[in-house]
Amino acid sequence: MPRRAPQIARTLPALRRSMEGLRARKATVALVPTMGALHDGHISLVRLAQRRCDKVVVSIFVNPTQFAPTEDFGAYPRTWKSDIAKLTEAGADLVWNPDAKVMYPDGFATRIVTEGPATADLEDRFRPHFFGGVATVVGKLFTQVRPDMAFFGEKDFQQLKVVTRMARDIDLGVKVVGATTLRERDGLAMSSRNVYLSADERATAPVLYRAMKETAKRLKAGDDVAAALAGGAATITAAGLALDYFEARNSETLAKVKSMKDGPLRLLVAAKLGKTRLIDNIAV
Ligand code: PAF
Repeated sequence: MPRRAPQIARTLPALRRSMEGLRARKATVALVPTMGALHDGHISLVRLAQRRCDKVVVSIFVNPTQFAPTEDFGAYPRTWKSDIAKLTEAGADLVWNPDAKVMYPDGFATRIVTEGPATADLEDRFRPHFFGGVATVVGKLFTQVRPDMAFFGEKDFQQLKVVTRMARDIDLGVKVVGATTLRERDGLAMSSRNVYLSADERATAPVLYRAMKETAKRLKAGDDVAAALAGGAATITAAGLALDYFEARNSETLAKVKSMKDGPLRLLVAAKLGKTRLIDNIAV
């Protein structure tokens, strides 16, 4: 039987009406925040959310406040029809799709300021505007939808830490759940930005995952952290990528580490391949 398309809400009153319907009989509600351009990684979040909650809301909003003027806000892929087809197939219940005026009404003047994991000297070093924009929009999404749980991919590992901290710090009453990164067969982490890669770049991109795996193996075999990271970094730059960072951090606190004793460790990488900036991470 063909699936029913999810309801779509574009204004706050419409969202409230839809949420009242979804919450009938005390149903639990999950939120999967996205910027659209949905891929299998997003759909795996929807499926995980369906296992944990009765109803699943997916937000689609390309959030201008998390892009610097030099970044790809204008070019960010917008694939509404295919997003809705995927969400219909997955059985999502509601799509929250506000426009920028609904999210940021005229005179908007309030932002969430992030510290702690947002100042870990990883993404924030290269995208200083980013976590303020993410925290503000996710804080608003949480108060608009009021979900019981919210699901985020581990690919944006620092983002996951930031929103987890924010939800706790300002008592949003939402349990933030992180989900394993989905990968292509050659190891490249799924990302909406992968569509920017040329065929040659796409063939090169899995080097990030390979370098992290090699480094993790060396660390587990007892290699020195700095030496293992230097080896991984050399693999990445030899493939022609411009490295922003390749680091080992404590996976709970994101604190810098000197040895495996400072773990559990997480390897985190960000690099530019042509014009496309890729990020990824794995547990050691
Ligand atoms: O990870 C994303 O797609 C975005 O940063 C998010 C969490 C939807 C906020 O705009």
